[in-house]
Amino acid sequence: MKKVIIVTLAVSILISGLFANGQTDDGRKSIGIAMPETHVARWVTDGEALKANAEAMGYKAEVAFGDADQTKQNKQISDFITKGVDLIVVASINTGVNTALAEAAAEGIEIISYDRLLMDSADFNYYITFNLKKVGELQGKSIVDALDLDNSSEVKYISLFAGSPTDNNAYFFYDGAMEVLNPYITSGKLEVVGPYPVTSADKDNFNRIATEGWRAELAKERMENLLSGDAEEFVLDAVLAPNDPVGRAIIEACSNDSKYDTTAKLPIVTGQDGELATVQYIRDEKQHMTVFKDSRLLAKATIQLADSILRNTAIDVPGTVKTEFDTNLKMVETYLLTPILVTKENYEEVIIESGYYTADQIK
Ligand code: BGC
Repeated sequence: MKKVIIVTLAVSILISGLFANGQTDDGRKSIGIAMPETHVARWVTDGEALKANAEAMGYKAEVAFGDADQTKQNKQISDFITKGVDLIVVASINTGVNTALAEAAAEGIEIISYDRLLMDSADFNYYITFNLKKVGELQGKSIVDALDLDNSSEVKYISLFAGSPTDNNAYFFYDGAMEVLNPYITSGKLEVVGPYPVTSADKDNFNRIATEGWRAELAKERMENLLSGDAEEFVLDAVLAPNDPVGRAIIEACSNDSKYDTTAKLPIVTGQDGELATVQYIRDEKQHMTVFKDSRLLAKATIQLADSILRNTAIDVPGTVKTEFDTNLKMVETYLLTPILVTKENYEEVIIESGYYTADQIK
C-alpha cells in the first residue's frame, strides 16, 4: 500500500513538474499543442505526431483537444500559459481564440499557427500548413479528369459543398477547386445543381454550400435535401466535397437514394485528409479521391520550426516553400508543404507503402 502511494506521489510530482516555471524539472523547454476537434480524425493523428516529434527533439510536450469549443480551447491555452510553456502550436476553432493568443503573447510565448491561419490577430509570427489552394485545385482537376470534361460532349451535373465558414482554409480549398471548374461551367460542359458561388467572395451563396464546423452530419442533411429538392430531376455526375468526412456523408446520402442505388452509379465525390475510412471507400470505388496531407511531414516540419524559434537560430524548414499569409492585421511568415492527390491508382503506393496505414488496415 505504502509503495503504491509513493509511486503515485512520484508520478504526480513528475506530471506537475511538466511545465513548472517556464522550464521543466529537468531543464527541458516545453511545447503546448492545442488541436481543435476530434470529430475529424486527422487532428488526433496530428496531435500525436506533434507530441512525438517534440519529445524526439528533446522537448516536453502536452496535447489538448478543444472539442470544437473555442471557450474550451481558450481555457486549454490559458492552462498552457500557467504551466509556463515556451511555445504553443495552435489550430483554432474560430477567431474567439484571439483573446487567448493575446494572453500568450503578453507572456512572451511564441505561437505557431498550425494548418489553419489564426485570423484577425497580430499576436503571432509563424504559420505552417499545406498549400491550401493546391488542395482545391487537385479536387477540381480530379473531377475534370474523372468526368473526361475535355473530351465529353454531354453536359455533366455537379453539386457543390464547402468547409466551415469559421475556417479560413475552407475559402482557399473552394477557390482552388473553382478556379479549375469555373471554365467548364462557363462553357456549359458542367452544370451546377443547387447554389453556385463562383468564388468564396459570394458570401451568401458560399454560406449556403458551407458545412458549419465541418460537421459531416450537416453535410449529409444538406445532401438529402438536395436529392429531394434541386437535384431531384437530375442524376449527379459529381459532388465537390471539401474533406473526407463530408465526402463520406455525401456518399452515404446518395447510397440511400434509390436513383443512385439502382439506376445510376454514385457521383464522383472528392475529399481531403486521407482518412482510413475514405481510403477504404477509394479502394471500393465509392469515393473517387482524397488529398493526402501527410501529418508525419507537417508535424516534423512544425517542430523543426519550433526548434529554430526556441533556439533563436536561422529558420530552416526542409520540404516547405516559404511565403507570407495575411491575417487581416499582419503578414505572417508561412511555410507550405505539398499535398498529394490519391486515387485508386496510387493509394497503395502513397498511403500503404509509405507506412501511413498498414495493408491490414485497408484490407
Ligand atoms: C483542415 C482539413 C480538415 C478540416 C476539418 C481544415 O482546417 O485543413 O484538413 O479536414 O479542417 O477539420
